[in-house]
Amino acid sequence: MELRDRTSCDRTSCDRTRAQDAWTAVWRDPASRLQCIGGAPDIAHALRGHWSTFAASLGAGARVLDLGCGAGAASGALWAARGDLKLTGIDFASVPAPAGVPVRLLSDTPMESMPFADAGFDAAISQFGYEYSRMHKTANQLARVLAPAARVSFVVHHAASSVVATNRARLNAILAVLGRDTQAAFLAGNVFVLDAKLSALSQRHPGDSLVMELARILPPRARAASRERAAAWRALEAALSPELTILEAMDSCCVAPEELEGWLGPLRPFCTVTSASVLRKPDGTAIAWRIDAVRCPA
Ligand SMILES: C[S@@+](CC[C@H](N)C(=O)[O-])C[C@H]1O[C@@H](n2cnc3c(N)ncnc32)[C@H](O)[C@@H]1O
Repeated sequence: MELRDRTSCDRTSCDRTRAQDAWTAVWRDPASRLQCIGGAPDIAHALRGHWSTFAASLGAGARVLDLGCGAGAASGALWAARGDLKLTGIDFASVPAPAGVPVRLLSDTPMESMPFADAGFDAAISQFGYEYSRMHKTANQLARVLAPAARVSFVVHHAASSVVATNRARLNAILAVLGRDTQAAFLAGNVFVLDAKLSALSQRHPGDSLVMELARILPPRARAASRERAAAWRALEAALSPELTILEAMDSCCVAPEELEGWLGPLRPFCTVTSASVLRKPDGTAIAWRIDAVRCPA
């Protein structure tokens, strides 16, 4: 299986449907949650700290829109800090209502077409959501739904972050497992070659649970009849497809330092960017970009 053309990711309705379905599958199955969502405790702590500080800076009863809200991690952090905020979450997947957080939740709703009145929000936030969208369209919508002087705070995938590195390693492991050589050896029932390929992959991706599991289960299945082997391979591709879709999307949407200025472009026509910095772990490792902006007067 080949990496899809990065530029075509999320551009066609087919890609979008695949992405929506993939995220819906993630939110339906908590066990499948990716690193970017579950996060290591130090990352979760830093993100909560960011949202708590942002919440403290908002006016009383501020109306806040959470873009790509998922299960409401960012809204929940705002709510924990400020119980007077009026929270709305929007996501194009079918997402679960966050437990104990009063969020008006709009599932199955792309942020590129927001079903909200003009100037109805005092703030927009996103934790690893906005960058997955077609940002010019989303920015146009934000320009419409944000009130003058509304605040914007986005936490955005940084190309050099540990979050992206972890998920990129996983992406490479999946692509290697589903690669042409492994597939050819499996479909040909060539157990000897398959074993050699999987051992090489295990060495290249030490400790990857998927590679270890497949190195265990694929060789015995390669001894089955040809039709069963073909069906088993199709099942494997189908099982890995949602995760692959999400990992490829993350790999495409993360932002490198040299890309940041261009990346901010869609926000500039209606916002003043007040700060673009890097949220870091105590050891200095990048977690994410932290982008803060203010809606210009209409
Ligand atoms: C990495 S998850 C982040 C979820 C949540 N903000 C968090 O931090 O746990 C990205 C979310 O953005 C949503 N998403 C991606 N593209 C979207 C779009 N164009 N419109 C609305 N939601 C989108 C996905 O469905 C997914 O729930």
